[in-house]
Amino acid sequence: MASPNTIVVLGAGVSGLTTAYLLSQDPTNQITVVAKHMPGDYDIEYASPWAGANYFPTGAPGSDHAEWERATWPALSELAQNQPEAGIHFQPSIVYNREKDQNSNTGKWFAELTREDPWYKDVVPDFRKIPSNELAPGIDNASYFTSVCINVAVYLPWLIGQCRRNGVVFKRGVFKHVSDAAHAHHSGKKADLVVNCTGLGSKKLGGVLDDALYPARGQVVVVRNDPGAMVSISGSDDGADEVVYMMTRAAGGGTVIGGSYQKDNWESQPDPNLAVRIMKRAVALWPNLVAEGQGIEGLDIIRHGVGLRPVREGGPRVAKDVVDGVPVVHNYGHGGFGYQASYGCAYTAVKLAKEALQERNQAKL
Ligand SMILES: Cc1cc2nc3c(=O)[nH]c(=O)nc-3n(C[C@H](O)[C@H](O)[C@H](O)COP(=O)(O)OP(=O)(O)OC[C@H]3O[C@@H](n4cnc5c(N)ncnc54)[C@H](O)[C@@H]3O)c2cc1C
Ligand SMILES: *[C@@H]1O[C@H](CO)[C@@H](O)[C@H](O)[C@H]1NC(C)=O
Ligand SMILES: *[C@@H]1O[C@H](CO)[C@@H](O)[C@H](O)[C@H]1NC(C)=O
Repeated sequence: MASPNTIVVLGAGVSGLTTAYLLSQDPTNQITVVAKHMPGDYDIEYASPWAGANYFPTGAPGSDHAEWERATWPALSELAQNQPEAGIHFQPSIVYNREKDQNSNTGKWFAELTREDPWYKDVVPDFRKIPSNELAPGIDNASYFTSVCINVAVYLPWLIGQCRRNGVVFKRGVFKHVSDAAHAHHSGKKADLVVNCTGLGSKKLGGVLDDALYPARGQVVVVRNDPGAMVSISGSDDGADEVVYMMTRAAGGGTVIGGSYQKDNWESQPDPNLAVRIMKRAVALWPNLVAEGQGIEGLDIIRHGVGLRPVREGGPRVAKDVVDGVPVVHNYGHGGFGYQASYGCAYTAVKLAKEALQERNQAKL
């Protein structure tokens, strides 16, 4: 038998867990996942538990980002269809657009999502334009499709379960430097490869401090109300970085109402005024969220939340590297699309991992 490959995956967000899961399907890979935060933790340094999360593509046509999103749909759709234990379900989806948002942060963020003829129209089922005579005043155009919503509180533990079934070992650890991570493999041997899925943590981690990373702060209100559809719009009149979206998580996960896209804002505590604006905008856009005639008093709040999207100027870094003699594959910087691009990015990371291990094994001969 070929000698096993020892791999340390650094980070247990959706990026690290998806990459570890795919790598663990090859039995010659012996994998340790090491992270400061694990599913079950709620911390401002850990983006994955705060996400909605749905599949609303935002990558520009032809970009790597778009290709990673395209490659992710079949996996999420298969899980929604056939694996109820993963906590993913299909939802009707409506995207509203206002011309006046074209140059705002949120309008640019949703530019592809709100297009009449987007690349993803042949990826998700049922895509169609909503006729203009069906639109409320103030809305310029809109589209409809079927997408998925992930209950991340079920899905992240599901990923851990799949990994453990394949022999992956999970440990807590905090690393100052890449080369320390290489010594964290459960075999006691120095790892052949480190996979770097540290999200925004990559901004501070030693070895390759990445200044292209910045946070885009997202505040949410999670409620028990069920709007019956995932609804979002290109912007709001409350500022260029405030938006409206709502999505109901599978299996009793509640409805996540957003939100904001506040660049370079690291504030971990919910802003109560922003919370009121989020709720008001949601009820105004989609009155079915509450009983007839009710305002935000009709919302039944579970909790308020804040997460930091790990945005990287120029897009995520999914690439091979060597740091202090240790082969490394990076997979971080997924902004607001870490779930909807998770499989696409992880497929690329696995391909790069194979190449890096081959190069390493050849060098050893
Ligand atoms: C409000 C909100 C809504 C969102 N909605 C969606 C959505 O609908 N769809 C979608 O696709 N995406 C959405 N996102 C984006 C998504 O949450 C992120 O892109 C994704 O979670 C990033 O995952 P990650 O694994 O790369 O990073 P993280 O989840 O942040 O995980 C990083 C991991 O690395 C570990 N780590 C970091 N530094 C170190 C260190 N030095 N030593 C040890 N461990 C370390 C951390 O402990 C953690 O385990 C949303 C985000 C927010 C905030
Ligand atoms: C809505 O209008 C914008 C701006 O004119 C356009 O770019 C976009 O493609 C339109 N979207 C739909 C769904 O019609
Ligand atoms: C991960 O990437 C970040 C940013 O480039 C860097 O600071 C960190 O040292 C890397 N970690 C590993 C394990 O390679």
